[in-house]
Amino acid sequence: MKVRGKNYRSVWMEGKLVKLINQPELPHTFSIKTCRNYRETGLAIKHMLVRGAPAIGATAGYALAQAVLASKARTMHQLLSDVGKAKRFIESTRPTAFDLFYATRRIEQAVSGCGDIQQAKKVAVSEAQAIADENVSACKKIGDYGNALIPEKAGILTHCNAGALATVDWGTALAPIRAASYSGKSIFVFVDETRPRLQGARLTAWELMQEGINHAILADNAAGHYINRGEIDLCIVGADRVVSNGDFANKIGTYEKAVLAKENGIPFYVAAPLSTFDFSRKTGAQIPIEERDEREVLYVTGMSGRNLVKARIAPARSKALNPAFDVTPANYVSAFITEEGVFKPSQIRKLIFRKRRVKQ
Ligand code: MRU
Repeated sequence: MKVRGKNYRSVWMEGKLVKLINQPELPHTFSIKTCRNYRETGLAIKHMLVRGAPAIGATAGYALAQAVLASKARTMHQLLSDVGKAKRFIESTRPTAFDLFYATRRIEQAVSGCGDIQQAKKVAVSEAQAIADENVSACKKIGDYGNALIPEKAGILTHCNAGALATVDWGTALAPIRAASYSGKSIFVFVDETRPRLQGARLTAWELMQEGINHAILADNAAGHYINRGEIDLCIVGADRVVSNGDFANKIGTYEKAVLAKENGIPFYVAAPLSTFDFSRKTGAQIPIEERDEREVLYVTGMSGRNLVKARIAPARSKALNPAFDVTPANYVSAFITEEGVFKPSQIRKLIFRKRRVKQ
């Protein structure tokens, strides 16, 4: 993604350091956070300095590579024990995004296949780099396949941030939107603000601003109004985990947008790379849903002058519920847009075989 004329990925590795765009500070400040070891990188995932399923996956891969590089093990057996400990820590940071588990498993498998420690260190870094690079090319292809589904002058609804910040580059839901804009289509994006952490208002709007793509931020409960008035032609969202029957988890509020889309006869597309597909689970009921701190709902944070300030919006003793994701059943999905093409939920089995062919 271009920021002030310079190309950035959301996360990358430089030597033993992991660097990432510090997302809680956006859109007000653009800064880079440096993580010196796997614990700092894991905490950056936990505290959502980096977020969005594929970005979490790439970061988790780099974190485990950092653990391998830092290990003082003298035998492969000790090294694999260090890897197991770091993997458990990294996997404890966020439970829903499948890319995280996909990445840690890939690094562990790659290291397990090595004959000695020096080789394992090299392989861990190159495998983590491959995960990030593959995500960039997958998202680019998602953009091209998805662009074919976007008519000229489309009004497009998107939820949360499934852009370059949420992946390594390009985005999932935002990739077709970028591609449509680059190919000269005149489009308008309706951006759900996405309470409580406002990834839509803060991050998606920021990305669209960088690209000069026409958009407006909507209060989370406003989409029905615009769909009912015929101003929204299609919805595109990302996913945190898609399971075998086509049910998927995404940011809280996605399900109600899918119901609205179906009720009003407009297409509802889910853009996701194969690294987000978890074919070990049969239905959405088996997806672990992250519950986050109630303070995210009870307070709002914003800029006042040059300072970030936090303000309570609820009665002092009110409690809040804060599920980070919901599950949308497959029958609300018009199609999945993947790097392998566009698939209806009924065709999802084809993807199981393609994923095996690519990487487990
Ligand atoms: O809690 P977040 O910000 O990590 O949630 C992100 C989302 O729900 C995205 O829509 C999803 O990860 C797809 S990202 C390409």
